[in-house]
Amino acid sequence: MKITVVGAGAVGATVADNIARKELCQELVLVDIKEGIAEGKAMDMMQTATLLGSDTKIIGSTNDYSKTQGSHVAVITSGIPRKPGMTREELISTNAGIVKTVTENLLKHSPDVIIVVISNPMDTMTYLALKSSGIPKNRIIGMGGILDSSRFKYYLSGALKCSPSDLHAVVIGGHGDTTMIPLTRLAFLNSHAVSHLLPADQLKQIAADTMVGGATLTKLIGTSAWYAPGAAGAALVESIVRDEKKVYPCCVALEGEYGQSDICLGVPVVIGKNGWEKIIDYKLNAEEQEAFNKSADAVRSMNEVLNTLTV
Ligand code: LAC
Repeated sequence: MKITVVGAGAVGATVADNIARKELCQELVLVDIKEGIAEGKAMDMMQTATLLGSDTKIIGSTNDYSKTQGSHVAVITSGIPRKPGMTREELISTNAGIVKTVTENLLKHSPDVIIVVISNPMDTMTYLALKSSGIPKNRIIGMGGILDSSRFKYYLSGALKCSPSDLHAVVIGGHGDTTMIPLTRLAFLNSHAVSHLLPADQLKQIAADTMVGGATLTKLIGTSAWYAPGAAGAALVESIVRDEKKVYPCCVALEGEYGQSDICLGVPVVIGKNGWEKIIDYKLNAEEQEAFNKSADAVRSMNEVLNTLTV
């Protein structure tokens, strides 16, 4: 098994580190455009091998995609991260060109690769990767909902004083401060509906905190977060390479599912060796469906910006 991570910044390096710790592959290639950074971080991670007991071989490469030859999965994290006060959407013109070029380079050397997109604005970058590459839709997965759900569970577990892993809680829709939809009605602590355990206004606040979860961290740290995004990316890769068939909310191409088409948006999907294998229908109520439609409208207008760019 061979995995490539493109972008050796904080998110890319953390994805790679998690993949190596879990020994998800024999060979892991880390690529970056900046001279030496991927080689350096790969070497640093390799020097943890005896400490962590990992036998994954990590290779760094400055923009040489021939080293990625024959990758089964590739994670794209390249692009500029947001700064405090910036939305993910403001990154579109810079990151679109980068994501398109990276996708082309990856496919040149690994025509059957499954691509996980993390670069922001993620929903639009996933759509761009799908449209520009023309590869089957199941092989392009945007990572957002799994991270946002993890933040949702963090806030819920704080309020409920419970283990986050006892929670089932999902965020669907776009991966944007105003486009994501924490599904409070479908949040459960073991078999108890969270809506029966917390007052409605507190639950509303938790949903609001979740939606700005990334922005809160950006304000504190001064740049975009990386620990949870890195772990979320690696969890997706794990379900692919181990064919786990886990259900995660991911950004995928919709063709009528959840009432939307010609868009990539976050919905629960089964993740296995073929990429995303099936969309699960959570049977949204009217209010949730309306929020989903609004989220789709916002993401669609962002996707339209792509037509004005010469990428
Ligand atoms: C975040 C970035 C990765 O939400 O989008 O932290």
